[in-house]
Amino acid sequence: MKTNVIILAAGKGTRMKSLDQTRSKVSYPILGVPLVRYVLEAVKPLVNGEIYTIVGFGGEVTTTLVENDAKVVWQHEQKGTGHAVMQVAPYLQNEEGITLIVCGDTPLLTTETLRNFVEKHRQNHHDLTVMTAILSQPKGYGRIIRNEAGFVEEIVEQADATEAQRLIKEVNAGVYVFDNKKLFEQLQFLSTDNKQGELYLTDLIKLFKKNHYVVGASILEDENEMLGINDRVQLAEAAKLLRLRINRKWMLAGVTFEDPEHTYIGPFVKLGQDCIIAPGNVIVGQTSIGIANLIGPNNYLENMVIGDHNEITHSHLVDSTLGNDNHVGPFARMRGHCEVHNHTKIGNFVEMKKVVFDDGAKVSHLTYLGDAHVGEKTNIGCGTITANYDGVNKFHTEIGKDVFIGSGATLIAPITVADGAFVAAGSTCNKDVGANDFAIARAYQVNKEGYATRYHKKKENK
Ligand code: UD1
Ligand code: CA
Repeated sequence: MKTNVIILAAGKGTRMKSLDQTRSKVSYPILGVPLVRYVLEAVKPLVNGEIYTIVGFGGEVTTTLVENDAKVVWQHEQKGTGHAVMQVAPYLQNEEGITLIVCGDTPLLTTETLRNFVEKHRQNHHDLTVMTAILSQPKGYGRIIRNEAGFVEEIVEQADATEAQRLIKEVNAGVYVFDNKKLFEQLQFLSTDNKQGELYLTDLIKLFKKNHYVVGASILEDENEMLGINDRVQLAEAAKLLRLRINRKWMLAGVTFEDPEHTYIGPFVKLGQDCIIAPGNVIVGQTSIGIANLIGPNNYLENMVIGDHNEITHSHLVDSTLGNDNHVGPFARMRGHCEVHNHTKIGNFVEMKKVVFDDGAKVSHLTYLGDAHVGEKTNIGCGTITANYDGVNKFHTEIGKDVFIGSGATLIAPITVADGAFVAAGSTCNKDVGANDFAIARAYQVNKEGYATRYHKKKENK
């Protein structure tokens, strides 16, 4: 059966209280991923038709987040959830099959829950199934009104509910499956005759019942999954639940988390077995980490591809690859597509940008390497700088294998230091150094005997 999906994401998100008027609520990230992307990822495996995302407030931003996976449909004025769905009519109203409707601000819904929900709708031959949950604090949600026989009769919004109805703890989770044709056939009969003067999607329950269509409800096992983000308190609550869900998955897959409460792993990250992850790590983006890595405290790793058996601590590494058996940090920084091979050491206060670093190379402290290739087993001394930028253009530094760069060297690019060369400490080199050559480029030292006493005297007299 054809399954299409509609994601409602046009609402304003007033309670996020942002100064940025171009920002949609569903663009707020959790673990580096915008809310609406969680919903998209959850529904993607269930669709064999099209995903339609309704955008409106902050719609330009939302569009950029969804357009690769979904068709964007604009709702220029937000006149309610029913009105939002109506905007898809030109594309969908004549199609056979079912339509799953979800909100863009519920990042905790899982594919599994949605699959079971759709399955139930099919097996029971419903025309409309609504997802519900039992909440101890139902305030704010639409209440599920059931008749004596237990069948769902209607949904009453908080604003329109009587005192007695407000005591009902079963609420509308905001997720529905519809027979598509019947959905669009009945949408046109919605009215704005309610406290908020909106076209409520939820009024379709009543309309379906009137037409003797089959309406069912499916109660969520884990009510946390329906958590919708309206303010930044809920954003933090959802972030915590997601974080623990992700961390739990990896622990069960063989990864040690020393403190899962304080470890932040993005939803697209992959971790290998027997990794040990210390507290304070933020590992996000398309990062993949092999087996048995020791990820010490407080790293930020984004879009990193990391092999096996590395030790990384207190470092900020992005958009780069790391092979096996490397030591990185504390306080290393890597960016701009570095490619570090195996058995290397990258020590404290080392910054690397766009560097290829071959097997066994070492850079232990206080160094900037930019636009450079460093050959096998080369040692870069403390305080080395590749001067790669003349204020306009960037230039390459080529350092061969088995090279020794003494401490405090400045290599002014473009420059090549060939295999086996030795650059004396403190040298400022602007000429190539040949294989096995020794380069020294610094002013010679002059010692003036006893001159320092003049300084000591001055100090005494002051
Ligand atoms: C809605 C339901 C309520 C349910 C709750 C679950 C209705 C009338 N009520 O209430 O029964 O318990 O969700 O969270 O549907 N949106 C648009 N265009 C609009 C209005 C809303 O796209 O014109 C989108 C919002 O961006 C949001 C979703 O629809 O993603 C829900 O809208 P919201 O205003 O949050 O509805 P609630 O009042 O929470
Ligand atoms: Ca809401």
